[in-house]
Amino acid sequence: MNRTWWKEAVIYQIYPRSFMDSNGDGIGDIKGITSRLDYLKYLGVDVLWLSPIYRSPNDDNGYDISDYQAIMDEFGTMEDFDEMLSEAHARGLRVVMDLVVNHTSDEHKWFMESRRSKENAYRDYYIWREGKDEKTPPNNWGSCFGGSAWQYDEETAMYYLHLFSKKQPDLNWDNPKVRDEVFNMMAWWCDKGIDGFRMDVISMISKTKEMPDGQVTDFYGDYGPYCIHGPNIHKYLKEMNKRVLSRYDIMTVGETPGVTTELAKQYAGEDAGELNMVFQFEHVDNHGKYGKWDDQKWQLTKLKKILTRWQTELYGKAWNSLFWDNHDQPRAVSRFGDDRQEYREASAKMLATCLHMMQGSPYIYQGEELGMTNYPFRSPDDFRDIESINAYKEWCLSGNVSHEDFWPCITFRSRDNARTPVQWDDSEQAGFTSGTPWIPVNPNYKEINAKAETKDPDSVFHYYKKLIALRKENPIMVYGKYEPLLEDSEELFVYTRTLDNEKLLIVCNFTDQDVAFTMPEEFTGRSCLIANMENDYSKNNITVKPYEAFVLVR
Ligand code: GLC
Ligand code: CA
Repeated sequence: MNRTWWKEAVIYQIYPRSFMDSNGDGIGDIKGITSRLDYLKYLGVDVLWLSPIYRSPNDDNGYDISDYQAIMDEFGTMEDFDEMLSEAHARGLRVVMDLVVNHTSDEHKWFMESRRSKENAYRDYYIWREGKDEKTPPNNWGSCFGGSAWQYDEETAMYYLHLFSKKQPDLNWDNPKVRDEVFNMMAWWCDKGIDGFRMDVISMISKTKEMPDGQVTDFYGDYGPYCIHGPNIHKYLKEMNKRVLSRYDIMTVGETPGVTTELAKQYAGEDAGELNMVFQFEHVDNHGKYGKWDDQKWQLTKLKKILTRWQTELYGKAWNSLFWDNHDQPRAVSRFGDDRQEYREASAKMLATCLHMMQGSPYIYQGEELGMTNYPFRSPDDFRDIESINAYKEWCLSGNVSHEDFWPCITFRSRDNARTPVQWDDSEQAGFTSGTPWIPVNPNYKEINAKAETKDPDSVFHYYKKLIALRKENPIMVYGKYEPLLEDSEELFVYTRTLDNEKLLIVCNFTDQDVAFTMPEEFTGRSCLIANMENDYSKNNITVKPYEAFVLVR
């Protein structure tokens, strides 16, 4: 396996809108990020991934871009960006940008031209089709954010495709001019000195030309088989790699909904000539009663099976990206751990141990290092996210399900859980802003905040800091081979890592119960690399306490 900096790196995701506000307008911004670089350096992460900071009308918080080469007005200016980038580099921190090129905003100049006439030079930049008739779209596909995936446009009496909101029209990647524009724009950012791209829904950029109805799930037809891993996806990514990526020392991670381990080797195989790694979603995609809206926790054996498959099948062939949460997912500790007061810290540290000890590059989502929790929503008015707002309408307000049944599900899974402001201290608005935040601060900020945790050596923050530091001193954490133990246990997640003569044992209790554990002979009495509580490892039979995690070295 080749050693590279991005395999050894820990990546920290910033959702700029909710990270730090520098001017009191209630919206996080670039100067806010710059002001917190020392905190990130102290934590020890290597790479910052910024969710989109480009000009945007914010229908989907910046994932709808109207100008790829300008900064969102609320976030500041290009000078602020340049300053942030050089301040980050001065501290040895790299900066990865979000690349959102499956779609643009409908306010992008390409789309404003495109919709004007069928003859317009930009017409073919997007995907236009005739409707079945004036009131019926070309097919039955549904958009990710509810409703049809087609929007009728009066100007030319045709429909355009939008797999996300109607303000996010899909680009037509089959048009070589679109690829030229995107690749030139990417090179422009690389020439500025950025260090990589996280590529938004990149598995969806190539669509089949024939666009038949999809199988109906929930309310609409599924576009999946026709738009995900489409016919030219690998051709376009290889072209992107050749024309842009390979010319720079950067890292790339593709957000690839629907990816399997087989496909991951094509997208991110060591010699595939496409991307460095991909995000897979199997371990966060447990669907239940109402599609993704579900309030159940994973059965541990199922979760382990998925992660073990990714760990073993990619080994030596492609690189894993490791994450529990991000800006589209609920808070890790609330979802996979236990956010009740007596267990929050222990379970947050346990989850960190379990993830950072696996093979791949770990991603930390802002606030995860503090053990931030889901938000206690009181009413649908609390939602800011287009996905949650539309889902509540489509499922509840239209009478498909009662509020009582749906409420626990949508509040457990809403993306807004991840988007409440980072809790910096115990002052008003958690030190995020001197004004009124665009989305309310979680009321638990008095107990959970960076100021308190950086002072407390036993905090979740210091535990993350220690894990990150250990990765730098122990190549086995990066390159060791993973092997599962106790695969049938519904309580313990146990595995080993092996590199040359070294071996680690990782034991994590995912429950609030004491669990009996028989230590493998070779680890009895061995030294502990890191643990979230005390135990006696000299015995063969030990009791693993609720949410306990430890790592032993042979
Ligand atoms: C990705 C982003 C998500 C966004 C969507 C559309 O899944 O992570 O936040 O809404 O793409 O761009
Ligand atoms: Ca601001």
